[in-house]
Amino acid sequence: MSEVVNIEEIPCENGDGVIAKVTINRPDKLNSLNQEVVAALKKMCSWAESNDSVRCVVICGAGPNLPPEGKRTKPNAFVAGADITEFIGKGSKEIRDIFTDNAIEAIWNLSKPTIAMVDGFALGGGCEVACSCDIRIASSRATFGTPEIKLGLIPGYGGTQRLAHLVGYGKAMEMVMTGNNVDADEAYRIGIVNQLVSPDELENATLKIAQTIASKSMHTLRVAKKTIRAALDNSITDGVAIEAEAFANLFDSEDKEIGVQAFINRDTPQWKHR
Ligand code: COA
Repeated sequence: MSEVVNIEEIPCENGDGVIAKVTINRPDKLNSLNQEVVAALKKMCSWAESNDSVRCVVICGAGPNLPPEGKRTKPNAFVAGADITEFIGKGSKEIRDIFTDNAIEAIWNLSKPTIAMVDGFALGGGCEVACSCDIRIASSRATFGTPEIKLGLIPGYGGTQRLAHLVGYGKAMEMVMTGNNVDADEAYRIGIVNQLVSPDELENATLKIAQTIASKSMHTLRVAKKTIRAALDNSITDGVAIEAEAFANLFDSEDKEIGVQAFINRDTPQWKHR
């Protein structure tokens, strides 16, 4: 796709479709999001949304390169934020143009399941990329944080909103106002991270959950994602009504019939609406 964003298509175990493993590949700058990465991520989202074979998207950061002789190895990073060097001298007009309709929003708006596989720093825009995914699997060396306050800024890729939904008002306030990092154990404890594993286990654990999700009906997964999302934007009364409607509509889908028949016949469902 591009030098800075690589896509590996991993076959689904049930033989149908692929998991798109998307690697942000700028390890010398801790995979920070410059405009090239942002543009490539947006392009990846259009590709993943329109490609019927893609069942699930896993996003990760490239591991460190071997250092030149005498230099230290750079730390592991998911994404260490927006590329700060691109902030120099910019005013509100340019930033508004760049941050409107951005790549993180494109990830958030994917109708397909998304998983962030986090090894190392997920700071600023990196924390926001992770929070824009549906699920986060992290290694014990993951570090989350919103350090923008130290630059005289706040999160600008939806982080204030998505973080508040994920960890609650108080923790989001603490993270954004202090700019302090949250280590992997704390991130797991406060609900940023769904599953915490050793660095060695990270890829297998992430692909295991991706494969489990990818084995379900794409149609039903889309409905599930949209319906859970309704909880973020609606009162509980309205949300329950939205769910009731979505649930009832699924009874007209071929996949409901396929799923129920497969259960009764002790068979594996062969979904139609992928
Ligand atoms: N934007 C641009 N470059 C970045 C970056 C960012 N957000 N984060 C790291 N880098 C670059 C560094 O400038 C350095 O480049 P160099 O080797 O050419 O000098 C390289 O990545 C390695 O980072 P370095 O700071 O040397 O690693 P470290 O182990 O000493 O520290 C961090 C790691 C993550 C603590 C530190 O890089 C950092 O604080 N990054 C910025 C995090 C941030 O504020 N993000 C929010 C941005 S809005």
